[in-house]
Amino acid sequence: MYGNEAEMGRALRDAGVDRRDVFITTKLPPDRAGGERATITASLRALGTDHVDLWLVHWPPGRAATPSTWEAFLAARDDGLARVVGVSNYSTAQIDELIAATGEAPAVNQIPWSPARFDARLLAEHRQRGVVVEGYSPLKGTNLGDPALAAIAARHAVTPAQVVLRWHVEHGIPVIPKSARPDRIASNLDILDFSLTAEEIAAVDGLSRR
Ligand SMILES: NC(=O)c1ccc[n+]([C@@H]2O[C@H](COP(=O)([O-])OP(=O)(O)OC[C@H]3O[C@@H](n4cnc5c(N)ncnc54)[C@H](OP(=O)(O)O)[C@@H]3O)[C@@H](O)[C@H]2O)c1
Repeated sequence: MYGNEAEMGRALRDAGVDRRDVFITTKLPPDRAGGERATITASLRALGTDHVDLWLVHWPPGRAATPSTWEAFLAARDDGLARVVGVSNYSTAQIDELIAATGEAPAVNQIPWSPARFDARLLAEHRQRGVVVEGYSPLKGTNLGDPALAAIAARHAVTPAQVVLRWHVEHGIPVIPKSARPDRIASNLDILDFSLTAEEIAAVDGLSRR
């Protein structure tokens, strides 16, 4: 749906990076339900690779869990076209439908996540099912000028955005910030050399209750 697979494939070829050093995710647009195999085949051709690392159902097709799509995903994984398969924007009830139909939970549910959306119960529901929550729109949904974030950032000599991204990591949530600016792309990645205290994590969790 983003229309960037051919671009990504060209970038990977031009950069000459080892395929094993990159983690490639792509998605099945909801209107491609029923055409799963043709869609992943076209994605792989555009990306110039024989497998993706993660393939996601972008949205529940027609707002329904759609176990037939999930079965096609598992078959594609079993055939080596994706290392791991998952979903995006699914509720836990819809995930339960997939598990009931196939006995297999998605590896990942990619959903909006940020301090304002922090929901310990939803996170626990995913973990009980063995599903990794991957957070999207981590910064868009956050007031980066919040004084609580600014205070924590100053203590660690980092930016409020880095505090938010590190907070995801502290919760074990893979996070996928987007930036078109090289300096921000670099700083958004540079979050592994500091950690938040339990009190700081709780303070950022608390932003969801304001
Ligand atoms: N599964 C889904 O349905 C779904 C839906 C939405 C998004 N996503 C995924 O999630 C990824 C990120 O989501 P998103 O783009 O919605 O939200 P985001 O990453 O939270 O926010 C992006 C915005 O934050 C700005 N930004 C980035 N780094 C910053 C920094 N260090 N300081 C201040 N501002 C910063 C960006 O501006 P600049 O570009 O100008 O830096 C851009 O305006 C996307 O790549 C997309 O693949 C998935």
